Amino acid sequence: MPATVVVGTQWGDEGKGKFTDLFAKEMQLVVRYQGGHNAGHTLVVDGETTALQLIPSGILYPHITPVIGNGVVVDPRVLIEEVDKLERKGIDCSRLRVSGNAHLILPYHQELDVVFERHLGENKLGTTKRGIGPAYADKAFRTGIRVQDLLDPKIFRQKLDVVLHEKGPLLAKVYNRLAPDADAIADKYLNEYLPRIEPYICDAIDLVHEALEAGQQVLLEGAQATFLDLDHGTYPFVTSSNPTAGGACTGAGIGPRHIDRVVGIAKAYTTRVGSGPFPAELFDEVGDHFVDVGHEYGTNTGRRRRTGWFDAVMLRHAARLNSLSDLALTKLDILDALETVKICVAYEIEGRRVETMPYHQTDFHKARPIYEELPGWQTDISECTEPGDLPQAAQDYVRAIERYVGVPVSVIGVGPGRRQYVHWS
Ligand code: GDP
Ligand code: IMO
Ligand code: MG
Repeated sequence: MPATVVVGTQWGDEGKGKFTDLFAKEMQLVVRYQGGHNAGHTLVVDGETTALQLIPSGILYPHITPVIGNGVVVDPRVLIEEVDKLERKGIDCSRLRVSGNAHLILPYHQELDVVFERHLGENKLGTTKRGIGPAYADKAFRTGIRVQDLLDPKIFRQKLDVVLHEKGPLLAKVYNRLAPDADAIADKYLNEYLPRIEPYICDAIDLVHEALEAGQQVLLEGAQATFLDLDHGTYPFVTSSNPTAGGACTGAGIGPRHIDRVVGIAKAYTTRVGSGPFPAELFDEVGDHFVDVGHEYGTNTGRRRRTGWFDAVMLRHAARLNSLSDLALTKLDILDALETVKICVAYEIEGRRVETMPYHQTDFHKARPIYEELPGWQTDISECTEPGDLPQAAQDYVRAIERYVGVPVSVIGVGPGRRQYVHWS
């Protein structure tokens, strides 16, 4: 049976958590396929906010099996903290499953993330400092340690010794830090973390395929977003995994023929945390308005997000990269008070009008937005439940986005709450 992918189409924080939770109503399995606790996915149910970093956003439904797929990097300390936090709220986490093939984040990954950012100084990437990049780098270098290695203490220790042979001198000699203590790490991971996470560890490939074969619906929840993708994002200002829809196949262990819907989550304006180019970025009172009204501060790190107008050029590119079937347009309500609203429809690069994402990063850095300006609606839409409830100007804005992106909008977010959405088409 078919699988659906939820993918961020901008630079993250589009509202993937909210819409994964909404779609999960109809699903049986929700699988996170990449990233780690650099993600912060927020769900608001009956006025109560739950912020998730590693656990899939289906967790709030008792009928869902939440799965952390092989493509994710797992810090077991964070996973245990998150489970404890949810269980204190009365949310049962016993159904959680973690792929034995997922890679572990170890303390030296986080430390290297921090010291490397410091070393980059002004040119820093603005990472979340969670050890994500160093953990994926070890995976690619084949010195990563996987969740399943915890189940064989001898192998775990052997792999740790091999990797510390290099990380020890790197941290001590290059970055002037203490070399990691293998005994202390092994003790924590094997004696403290393993007993807590062992019940969740499984062969996730088997689990996902059994579900598909039984005719169940599987939702593949992306973290980060298209323009933070290691291959397709604004490199090097990206994360170290593949959030784009192709990553859902490798990160969950299924082939593309299982996927019959790819929902692109797009904010009605644009935000970005961390460094990197951002053509439609605003440095004026409208930008501040997005921050203030949209509460644009990181769910995870608390950093102020950079803000700008909706960029249809980027969205057209995201539609190609992900084979988007439809868009969930979020946070339309944040535009409620504005007199006019703008969509970036093309770029000007050294006097030329460009309608597609320039492949050369230098050009993208020089891109200046060309806007289409539309009337605002200056009406509170947070209670709207039907397309016809939306003011005409808001409907026109959504139609303009569909036209400029070339992908239909299926659902619109009009507030953070689970029920604050409008089915559009
Ligand atoms: P994610 O990382 O893509 O899951 O998004 P985040 O949770 O980091 O950030 C999105 C924020 O917007 C969260 O605080 C959500 O509760 C909130 N949100 C999601 N959809 C809507 C919407 O349609 N309207 C409003 N006002 N807030 C929304
Ligand atoms: P969700 O899933 C927004 C950004 C960081 C930084 C870059 C690399 O909540 O949308 P990393 O720690 O991954 O090596 O940082 O990626 N970043 C995110 N920005 N939302 C996220 O996740 C992000 N995860 C990473 O700010 O610019
Ligand atoms: Mg987020």
